[in-house]
This record gives sequence, C-alpha cells and structure tokens, in this order.
Amino acid sequence: MSGWLVGNTALITGGGTGIGRAVAERYLAEGASVTIVGRNLDQLEKVVANSADPSRMHAVAADVRDSEQLHQAVAETVSRFGKLDTLVANAGLWDYQRQLTRLSARELADTFDEVFSVNVKGYFLAAEAAWRELVKSRGSIVMTLSNASFYVNGGGPVYTASKHACLGLLRELAYELAPKVRVNGVACGGMNTDLRGPESLSMNERSISASFAKRGPGSPPPPIPLHDSSTDPKDFTGPYVLLASREQSGPITGETISIDGGMGVRGFSSDAGGDHL
Ligand SMILES: NC(=O)c1ccc[n+]([C@@H]2O[C@H](COP(=O)([O-])OP(=O)(O)OC[C@H]3O[C@@H](n4cnc5c(N)ncnc54)[C@H](O)[C@@H]3O)[C@@H](O)[C@H]2O)c1
Repeated sequence: MSGWLVGNTALITGGGTGIGRAVAERYLAEGASVTIVGRNLDQLEKVVANSADPSRMHAVAADVRDSEQLHQAVAETVSRFGKLDTLVANAGLWDYQRQLTRLSARELADTFDEVFSVNVKGYFLAAEAAWRELVKSRGSIVMTLSNASFYVNGGGPVYTASKHACLGLLRELAYELAPKVRVNGVACGGMNTDLRGPESLSMNERSISASFAKRGPGSPPPPIPLHDSSTDPKDFTGPYVLLASREQSGPITGETISIDGGMGVRGFSSDAGGDHL
C-alpha cells in the first residue's frame, strides 16, 4: 500500500458526514486506519460499510460535549488499531449568520451555550481525551477551523467568536504540547455539507446544503477571488493529509492552512453590514 499516512491511526469527531467524512475516506485512501465519532451510530456504521476498506474504519457513538464518551472513543481506537496518531477535532454547528441585533437576550444566551459547547468545548474535551496517546505516538491534532476564524460575516457573532476561540485554543495547545505533539488547523471556506444550526434557534433541522441548492446557473458568483472553486468537501481534504503526515509537515505546528478561495486577498464587497438598521 502507498500513501502519505500508511500505518497511521486517526480519530475524527463529526466523521460521519461532510468534511469529517471526506477526510476519513481520504485518510483511508492514504493508508491510515480511522475511527469516526458522531451521535448516530447507525449512520456511522453505514459510512463504515460503504468505505473502501471497512476493516480499517471503526464507528463510535459519542457526543463531543461528553468527556467520558470521548475517552471511550480514544480507548476503542487504541484497542482496535494499537495507537492514535492524529485527532481531527471537527464536529460543529453553524449559527446561520444570525446577527446580535436579531437575537433576544434569551436566544443569545441559549445559542451561545449550545454553539460554544459543541464548537469550542467539544474541541477542548477531544484534545484532553487524546493528548496522552498523542504524546506516546508523537502524533498531532488537526482542527477544522473556518474563514470565520479570521474574517467577519461567515457566521453571526456567536459562530465567529466560537471559531476565533478555536484558533486561540490551537495556538495555546501547539505551545503546551510541543515538542511531542503538533497542533495545526485547516480553515475551510463554504462547503456543501449537512452543517446544522442550533436547536436553541429551532435551526437543528436546517442544513447549509439548502443554501447551496438555491444557487442556480444565473446566480451571481460568491465575492471571493476563486469564486468558481469547488464546494465539494472532498476538494478540501488535501491540507488535512499534509498536516497529519509527519514526513510532510514534521516541523509545522501552530499553523492554519486556509482553503477558502482566497478570501484574504479580496477587496471590499460591501461597506457595512448594518445599513438596514
Ligand atoms: N460547511 C461549511 O461551509 C463550513 C465552512 C467552514 C468550516 N466548517 C466547519 O466544518 C466542521 C464540520 O462541518 P460540516 O460542514 O462538515 O457539517 P456536517 O454537519 O456535515 O458535520 C458536522 C458533524 O458534527 C456532528 N456533530 C454535531 N454536534 C455534535 C455533537 N454534540 N457530538 C458529536 N457530533 C456532533 C454532526 O452530526 C455532523 O456529523 C464544523 O466544525 C464547521 O464549523 C464548515
């Protein structure tokens, strides 16, 4: 077998759908064994059964807000595959760009608790559950970040703050776990996935894929330099492979690769977000 991750073992939170699933399948193709973690075991087991090599993929039901369940997922990975080389912290929720001025105080408090408990606490708890095994393997953490870790208006304030928080967590852990464990991120732009919203705003049945479905042939392109670039999560997996590979990125830690169609070099698309107020 050839590939950049032959013999490696990874655990991916939110690995049953979207970019998490695409990374799991890509890691498998690169020679790794992968545990996918999510809340719906039936759905995860279907992903395993449909994968290129079900003997190298394992499904574990866990809620990323539950530390004990994450410890169990790490323990199962080590018992099944012998070690853990890479944690991909990825499970998350979006806030559908709900602005502060469109939230009641109650909605804001509940949305903050829900989104931060998955997007931020979920990354903290996964890192806590995994670091001992990662020290043993001289492994690494790869976090799914977002354009919202750097720029505004990719979410509302709750999502943007949560993704900025993950960038801070990444940098702190890159320092605290060095020199034994590397910690890096992939800041994704818009992808056509099943990304859901918070239950607190009754958005848990809403999927970001509906926004992509609205884009017809005559729709204006998104205002980013590579506006015709892919929104297929498979096309976002390369940096996850690079950052998990000791051979290819051994001296890299505390860094984030943006894969967002060049947002960082665009000009102004509009002057203010609050003209309607
Ligand atoms: N889709 C985009 O445009 C986009 C852009 C930038 C960043 N991201 C980030 O990518 C990551 C993955 O999202 P996606 O777009 O692939 O959407 P997705 O909904 O397909 O994947 C998210 C996964 O997390 C799981 N999850 C949610 N809450 C959980 C919990 N409490 N415990 C366990 N699992 C839970 C979901 O079931 C799902 O499998 C998220 O962190 C998201 O913020 C997405």
